Amino acid sequence: MSVVTVSNLKGGVGKTALATNLSHAFAKRMCETLLIDLDPQGDASTLFEIVRHVQATTLDSLGTNLFQRFLSQTKNEIREVRDGLYLLDVRRLSAMLQADPLTGEGKLFSRVIESLSMNFDHIVIDTPPVWGNAHRAAFECSDLVIVPVDPSEMSVRAAVGLLNRVSEDMAGAALLVRTLVQSRATRVSRESTRHLQATFEGDGDEAIGNCRPKQVSLKGLSPSSLKIFLSSVALPRSEIVHLLSYRKKTIYEHHALSFIQNAYTLLAKEVEALFAACQPEVEEEDEESSFGELLAF
Ligand SMILES: Nc1ncnc2c1ncn2[C@@H]1O[C@H](COP(=O)(O)OP(=O)(O)O)[C@@H](O)[C@H]1O
Ligand SMILES: [Mg+2]
Repeated sequence: MSVVTVSNLKGGVGKTALATNLSHAFAKRMCETLLIDLDPQGDASTLFEIVRHVQATTLDSLGTNLFQRFLSQTKNEIREVRDGLYLLDVRRLSAMLQADPLTGEGKLFSRVIESLSMNFDHIVIDTPPVWGNAHRAAFECSDLVIVPVDPSEMSVRAAVGLLNRVSEDMAGAALLVRTLVQSRATRVSRESTRHLQATFEGDGDEAIGNCRPKQVSLKGLSPSSLKIFLSSVALPRSEIVHLLSYRKKTIYEHHALSFIQNAYTLLAKEVEALFAACQPEVEEEDEESSFGELLAF
C-alpha cells in the first residue's frame, strides 16, 4: 500500500529503466505491484508490449458519480504483464484525463491512484521529463519520490529543480539514486562524483560509498519537510541493460546479470525500508532513531 514516483526533469537519466526493473524486483519479492506509465511516450508500456489503442475512451457507462466512473474505467485498463506485476498505460485514459474537471491540479486522478493503492502492495509511477499535471497527480498521492541522477551536471541540477517543486506538493521522502554509473573509474566518473558531493551540505559528502541510504541536505533546496536520502545503490551502466530494452525484457529475465539484479533487489529493500519509515505511526516516534533503525536492514 505504498506509492513511489520515479522522476527527474531531465530525459535519458534512466527513469524508465529504474521504474520497470524496480517494479519487477517488487513482484519477484512476492509483492503485487502496479506500474503506472504516466509518460505520453509510453516507454514502460512498450517494454511490456502493451499495444497502444488510440481511440478515445468514453465515460458513458460504469458507476454513478464521476469518481466511481473514473475508478472503474482505470481498473478496466490494468493488465497483468508478469507474475504479480500489473501495468496501467495512462495513454488509454487520455479521454478520461481530459474530462477530469480537476486535471489542472491532478486531484481526481490522484484520488483514483490512492484508491487503487488498496489493491496492491506497491504502486510505481514512471513520469515524463517535462513538468505537468501528471507530476502533480503523482506527487499528491506518493509516499516517496525516487530521483535517478546520472553522471551529468544537468542531471543533478534538474534533480534539485524537481525537488524544489515536489516539496510544495508532498511531505514524505525523496531518494536520490545514481544511475548509468561507469564500472571503471574514469576521469568523468570521478568528476561527476565530485560534482554530486559538492551539491550536499555539511557531512552529506560522506554519503557516497556508504553502505546504507544516508539522509542528506542539498544546496539550493528550499526548506521543507521533505526528507532527502542518497541511496547506497549505484545502478551500473551496462550494454546488456540497453540491449534488453530492444528484447522487451527486464533485468530479471536475463540470466547473466546477477550483479545488476542484486543492485535492484537491494534498491527494492531500501525503498521498502523508507516506505516503512514514512508511515505516520513511525513518524510519531523519535524520528531520528526510527529512520536510523529502519534503514539498518
Ligand atoms: N543501466 C543501463 N545501462 C545502459 N544503458 C541504460 C541503462 N539504463 C538505461 N539505459 C538506456 O539509456 C537510455 C535512457 O534510459 P531511460 O530509462 O529510457 O531514461 P528516461 O526514462 O529517464 O528517459 C535508454 O536507451 C536505455 O536503454
Ligand atoms: Mg522514460
